[in-house]
Amino acid sequence: MTYLSSTQAIPNVSSVPRHIAIIMDGNGRWATKRFLPRVAGHAKGVEAVRTTIEACIERGVEYLTLFAFSSENWRRPPEEVSVLMRLFVTALEREVAKMHANDIRLKVIGDLSRFDVHLQRLIANAERRTAGNSRLTVTVCANYGGRWDIMQAVGKMVASCPGASSFTEEQLAPHLAMAYAPEPDLFIRTGGEERISNFLLWQLAYTELYFTDTFWPDFDRQALDRAIASYCERERRFGRTSEQLTEQKKASGC
Ligand code: IPE
Ligand code: IPE
Ligand code: MG
Repeated sequence: MTYLSSTQAIPNVSSVPRHIAIIMDGNGRWATKRFLPRVAGHAKGVEAVRTTIEACIERGVEYLTLFAFSSENWRRPPEEVSVLMRLFVTALEREVAKMHANDIRLKVIGDLSRFDVHLQRLIANAERRTAGNSRLTVTVCANYGGRWDIMQAVGKMVASCPGASSFTEEQLAPHLAMAYAPEPDLFIRTGGEERISNFLLWQLAYTELYFTDTFWPDFDRQALDRAIASYCERERRFGRTSEQLTEQKKASGC
């Protein structure tokens, strides 16, 4: 199913965010603070992923999207990049059976062609195996960049409409890498930085943004609940006035 864009139709808003997207930042600083190598922070970060997935299931979140490796992270020292790749492989080897047993669908988005063949095969198998699951969709963004996503979608859109010289949002949207999910309701960035770092540029148009100083390895159920509580206090107007929202609530009797 393709979801309507927030700029085309006003989405339904519920107290539990349907879709949470997270920039898992601060692994390196978590480790450095403890006089550990940066990679120890990445290893600990995998545990926080596990906890967050469980917490999302308990709270009824339907989509969880995790920024694991950006298209710019190749600029890091080669040793750190190779540890991150190894961690990704191990996590897939260890966790996919458990995810499948818990009715979790796994998706991986990004330019996967740059990964080694073994990793590409693991990803394809994991996606195939969990494709029919419906309790929670976990999307891992790997070698992902928001600009890459828009450009690859534009390329596919243009190829699918030969000769066309103007296009609409509705024509582009189905080609975006996460077309299977509604736009995120809540964006969380851990680690204290307040930037998007080329994450979901198109899809965050009307997402509520939440930044916390907590380093990703320390992110737990309480930290997630704080983010959701902040989300619940927001008034999502999607361009309308506050008065219009009050009127709408009165009319619908809630
Ligand atoms: C996020 O933590 C993990 C990845 C980018 C892969 P960092 O490694 O960026 O941690 P800091 O920001 O250096 O603390
Ligand atoms: C963003 O974190 C990417 C991921 C968490 C995967 P970075 O740590 O790479 O972001 P910048 O470079 O500080 O913006
Ligand atoms: Mg960082």
